[in-house]
Amino acid sequence: MQKAYLKNLKKLTQFWEQGNPDEIHHFLISKGFSPRKNLNMLDIGCGSGRDAGWATNLGAKVVAVDILPEMLKVAQESHPDPTIKWICDTLPEISKVSGRFDVILISGVWQHLLPIERKKSLIKLETLLSKKGVIYISLRLGEPDLERCMLKVSLRELYTMIKNTNLKILDISCVNKDFLNRNNVAWQSVLLTKN
Ligand SMILES: C[S@@+](CC[C@H](N)C(=O)[O-])C[C@H]1O[C@@H](n2cnc3c(N)ncnc32)[C@H](O)[C@@H]1O
Repeated sequence: MQKAYLKNLKKLTQFWEQGNPDEIHHFLISKGFSPRKNLNMLDIGCGSGRDAGWATNLGAKVVAVDILPEMLKVAQESHPDPTIKWICDTLPEISKVSGRFDVILISGVWQHLLPIERKKSLIKLETLLSKKGVIYISLRLGEPDLERCMLKVSLRELYTMIKNTNLKILDISCVNKDFLNRNNVAWQSVLLTKN
């Protein structure tokens, strides 16, 4: 995964930046979790920093995490807001982040994790969630991109995995077309909260 991202870093980050977060995250917004002043957001797998920049501009306090230091460098250069905290860290461990967050954004990342890592991630994410906070996971449906080491994800799997946690499903979006206009990709988003 990392090699494929590094090889195409500039092209991919430019591509992701074309997306409009208001459209991409309309489900999150429609459920009342729009970024705003005093909202703490953790963006894991932040990629180009598009969503970290968006949320910060709307007043949220953002911690943006990615597994790749090179990705974080590009993100920080594109979104130089000094209030964004950029951290190189990895799901499922996320060992360098502390605190509690109102929104934990996992956008376009779940398909990169092995099932066992997804399971462990849910347990870790629960510890980073504020009392009334939400974990927002987007599921990439359709054929996985093997070059970028993607695996299949499903709502059914998520249902099974949260059984071992103190989390529950708050809401599920309908299946949406890809907002970056890829024909073979569709998305479904899930909001999780504490039981
Ligand atoms: C498809 S991109 C999505 C970027 C951004 N969230 C978006 O929606 O445009 C996936 C990102 O997740 C990062 N990533 C992949 N596996 C990760 C992991 N285990 N922990 C943290 N970040 C990871 C990649 O480096 C990449 O930046």
